[in-house]
Amino acid sequence: MKSILFVCLGNICRSPLAEGIAKKLNSEYYIDSCGTGSWHIGETPCANSIKIASQHGIDISRYRARQFSSEDIARFDHIIALDESNLNDLKLLGATNAIKLGSFGYDNMDVPDPYFFNGFEGFEKVYAMIHDCVEQLLHELETK
Ligand code: 4NP
Repeated sequence: MKSILFVCLGNICRSPLAEGIAKKLNSEYYIDSCGTGSWHIGETPCANSIKIASQHGIDISRYRARQFSSEDIARFDHIIALDESNLNDLKLLGATNAIKLGSFGYDNMDVPDPYFFNGFEGFEKVYAMIHDCVEQLLHELETK
């Protein structure tokens, strides 16, 4: 089974959304997410990510944050970073073929970090961007 790992900083806002969306769109891949940082290990996704996912029929409330490990490099076929800083961190950690989610149809843009957003505002845009890029990523993998 081919596998995809989505990586952000805390694994509580953006990459759990990417994981939930990818799992909903395609069941033929093993899909997981993690963070480069260790602050939130074991925590559930942030309340606003759980809420926006739930508004789109996706339950991410049981996900638990974990930290990226060098073992992930061999375990996953595709390692996808949510922003440039995650990508740079991954490359420093040895994931030299990691790619940025925004390269799939969003002009290589970073997915903004909603951790520092004021309340729920902005989560719909982040959700839409992640959804469109994940859809495009899956499409490109299927047609490769
Ligand atoms: P995420 O958001 O990378 O999308 O999960 C963040 C979560 C936590 C922190 C930063 C970003 N933090 O600094 O603790």
